[in-house]
Amino acid sequence: MEELHNLKNEALALINEAKNDQELKSLEITFLGRKGKVNQFFKNLAQVKKQERIRFGQLLNESKKAIEKALSNQKQLIADQQASDQQWFDITQPGQLPAIGHLHLITQAIREINTIFSQIGFIRVRYPQVEWDWYAFESLNMPKDHPARDEWETFFLDTAENQKMGKMVLTPQTSSGQVREMERLGQPPIRMINIAKCHRRQQDITHTVMFHQFEGLVIDENISISHLKGVTDYFADKFYGKGRKTRLRPFNFKFTEPSFEIDINCPLCLGKGCKTCKSGWHELGGAGMVHPNVLKVGGIDPSKYSGFAFGWGVERTYLMKSGLKIDDLRLIYSNDLRFLEQF
Ligand code: DAH
Repeated sequence: MEELHNLKNEALALINEAKNDQELKSLEITFLGRKGKVNQFFKNLAQVKKQERIRFGQLLNESKKAIEKALSNQKQLIADQQASDQQWFDITQPGQLPAIGHLHLITQAIREINTIFSQIGFIRVRYPQVEWDWYAFESLNMPKDHPARDEWETFFLDTAENQKMGKMVLTPQTSSGQVREMERLGQPPIRMINIAKCHRRQQDITHTVMFHQFEGLVIDENISISHLKGVTDYFADKFYGKGRKTRLRPFNFKFTEPSFEIDINCPLCLGKGCKTCKSGWHELGGAGMVHPNVLKVGGIDPSKYSGFAFGWGVERTYLMKSGLKIDDLRLIYSNDLRFLEQF
């Protein structure tokens, strides 16, 4: 009986220390298996003195039950432990920050451009994206059917035509804000920066139907080409960095006379000419001295006032700054986070 007692205690102690199901299984075989230690006692039952046999039998059954119970308790304990191990987490670990978005790269560029011009007194304005032909073309010295209009690949709206204003268009250039600004202010001085969406019927790897331009317009007494040059050089220095300058190259636009293309010196050779740029210069966009006809249409006396204007693409200007070479410009507006998150 004492041996049986010891066996039970030994079994319970070992079971309590078992760490996993495997250990439990082998303890079960050792103690309760067919050839196990408990069965050994059952086999010896016949040898026990008759008067003690009942008590011994009872003790044997109790011991067996106690071992079975200990096994199943321990099994449950191990399972609980494993489950809570899986749920365990380190409360001292920093949490995962929620994903925070940021401004689109072109919005960032627009804001930067706006800031640079506002520092020298330009006022940002916006004019309708759905515009009259009059403001988009005719007031800018481009009568109906003028071949120069072909350049602008315009979307016309399927709406009634107005006798003076003509058809409605999706504005193809921010120059459409020039006469609107003259009308708004009535008289010079005018220092406008109009940054807005433009649309043209062109969609390929270097064009998106929707893009942005920023248009500067300055009108006052005695405004000359040197003011234009001063402003474009100022912008080059602020937006592109020290040592960057612009040059004026003769060109033709109907709404300016004389007209120019503005180039910026290459960031690598600063205008001397190198392998990447060849000429030393990259084209930025159009500019010129506001045509007297345009001033007149805007109600401003060209014999008293003069002005300059320029209009450049935001996307192009920004890409030239970042040095970013993208195979397909449409990527900018594809809303692919893998691209956008880089800016
Ligand atoms: N609006 C012209 C374009 O889209 C660019 C331009 C040229 C704007 C000359 C101007 C300017 O203000 O004076 O191509």
